[in-house]
Amino acid sequence: MTTTPVIVTGGAGFIGSHACKCLAEAGYLPVTIDNLRTGHADAVRWGPLEKLDVRDTDAVAHVFRRHSARTVIHFAACAYVGESVEQPGLYYDNNVGGMISLLSAMKREGVGQIVFSSSCATYGIPNTVPISETSQQAPINPYGRTKLICEMMIRDHAAAHGLRYAMLRYFNAAGAAPDGALSERHDPETHLIPLALMAASGMGPPLRVFGGDYPTPDGTCIRDYIHVSDLAEAHLLALRHLEAGRDDLVLNLGTGRGTSIHELLQAIARQTGCDVPYELAPRRPGDPAELVAAPELAERVLNFRARRSDIDSIIKDAAPHFAKENCHGVDA
Ligand SMILES: NC(=O)c1ccc[n+]([C@@H]2O[C@H](COP(=O)([O-])OP(=O)(O)OC[C@H]3O[C@@H](n4cnc5c(N)ncnc54)[C@H](O)[C@@H]3O)[C@@H](O)[C@H]2O)c1
Repeated sequence: MTTTPVIVTGGAGFIGSHACKCLAEAGYLPVTIDNLRTGHADAVRWGPLEKLDVRDTDAVAHVFRRHSARTVIHFAACAYVGESVEQPGLYYDNNVGGMISLLSAMKREGVGQIVFSSSCATYGIPNTVPISETSQQAPINPYGRTKLICEMMIRDHAAAHGLRYAMLRYFNAAGAAPDGALSERHDPETHLIPLALMAASGMGPPLRVFGGDYPTPDGTCIRDYIHVSDLAEAHLLALRHLEAGRDDLVLNLGTGRGTSIHELLQAIARQTGCDVPYELAPRRPGDPAELVAAPELAERVLNFRARRSDIDSIIKDAAPHFAKENCHGVDA
């Protein structure tokens, strides 16, 4: 039996590695292109790793040719909002420059389908919640703007060259593979759930909670957390949708349920038996009070259900990777 190759840029990263696992389990061969800027070579276990930069157009085109690729799933990007404010040039270079290079290589090699990692950051501060796909896109930081520019580039290439696309706007990716095979690893760690779990297990300092005076029931920010394995499955469904020749897609990937930071800390206490030590800090500029997806379109078009995205399952799957016995080289 031959397996269908799928190019996965950023396949060594958090969401990309979970997507590769899911694709392989569905019978595809995920071919990772990753420069390991933030990714991990040991997370690429379900297909080959092509260690290169997506901005190297010739090298990317060569990989497409060698694997007779038809579809790219494009995760590779810089993805920290705060860093994007401090280093906008890096974000435009890597995220927009990466997309220019990728689209050029795809056109050259006749690779006609793309699944793109977009973000709820393209919406900025929403006028209404939940946020639907037709809500205004008015990003408030360079990261969100690079994602919106990439969406526009994809639409323009679709109109000019017949590129077919699925643009997936994720809300907050979280959790880890339920079988323990993969986890969330960033250096430095800036993501809320890993930081909270590290605080709970004594591996990290008390969590800083930015803002306790938001107009939400308990005063802390509300976000829509989606399990990374659910996200991975949505990519598989989007890929199959494109392969079946169906319409282009622009979809939110979230649950429609908001969880406040306090509720998150309560879930961690329930799942780990440890309270999360925390201190309140001032609000961060540009942090909206509430970001929650309207998830119905993905449910309708892809028959997608975020089955493992209740907050307790997310914490249950993530927590073992931040327990003390997994604390490599850190004084616990
Ligand atoms: N994590 C979230 O909650 C979230 C939410 C919305 C959107 N996204 C998007 O999803 C995608 C994946 O995010 P993640 O959280 O897995 O991040 P990540 O940093 O874990 O993964 C990104 C991967 O891309 C690679 N990469 C970056 N620039 C590259 C380049 N020029 N060439 C080759 N490889 C390169 C990195 O080494 C890394 O393996 C990103 O596009 C991000 O913007 C993430």
